[in-house]
Amino acid sequence: MNRIPVITIDGPTASGKGTVASRVAQTLGFAFLDSGALYRLTALAAIESGMDLGDEPELARIAAGLDVRFEGERILLSGREVSDAIRAEAVGVAASRIATLPGVRSALVDLQHGFHRAPGLVADGRDMGTVIFPAADLKVFLTASVEARADRRYKQLIGKGFPATMPALLQDLRERDARDTERAVAPLKPAEGAHLLDTSNMTIEQAVEKVLGWYQSVLK
Ligand code: DC
Repeated sequence: MNRIPVITIDGPTASGKGTVASRVAQTLGFAFLDSGALYRLTALAAIESGMDLGDEPELARIAAGLDVRFEGERILLSGREVSDAIRAEAVGVAASRIATLPGVRSALVDLQHGFHRAPGLVADGRDMGTVIFPAADLKVFLTASVEARADRRYKQLIGKGFPATMPALLQDLRERDARDTERAVAPLKPAEGAHLLDTSNMTIEQAVEKVLGWYQSVLK
């Protein structure tokens, strides 16, 4: 193959796509792009500087100038580790709001394309297959019921020591789904030709196997 392969995994928040995508990347020895982290990093930087989350030009400037480094599991913003800080619910909610702004989205395009390096890339997000890597070799749309996702998010947050309750998480996920799917720019939807994978009743391992199996068949 003379092109550098790309696998895109898109889906709603807390669907497990991040874990599945990073394990697929690890198995294949590919790089991994957590594009949601870029929106979260922009949101965190904006919150910390006390900015108005509707100030599109200023937010786009922050997004374009992000000094981010991914070191394995660690994410560094201007040299400071923010891996846990960007997972806080408030940052996720702010990320979902600023992700509706076209200026912010286009400011992050080059940064995302920069991850497309040999030997290959697994990109996780909302618009990886539709907008950022439309020529991907394999596109997956990974979903799970809102209840299954709330349950996973609950365990994740409690495990990290963040406060959480199921009713609040369910409401937050529904609102975030609505914002992600109804926005005018790059809304969350399956890319053309995407393989659909509902993981509500699947383990991570089963989902990873499924994606690897599809990848093997596109290589043939
Ligand atoms: O995947 P996540 O929950 O970390 O993403 C946080 C927010 O970022 C999400 O609510 C929508 C936005 N996002 C996006 O608009 N496009 C992407 N490719 C990835 C994330």
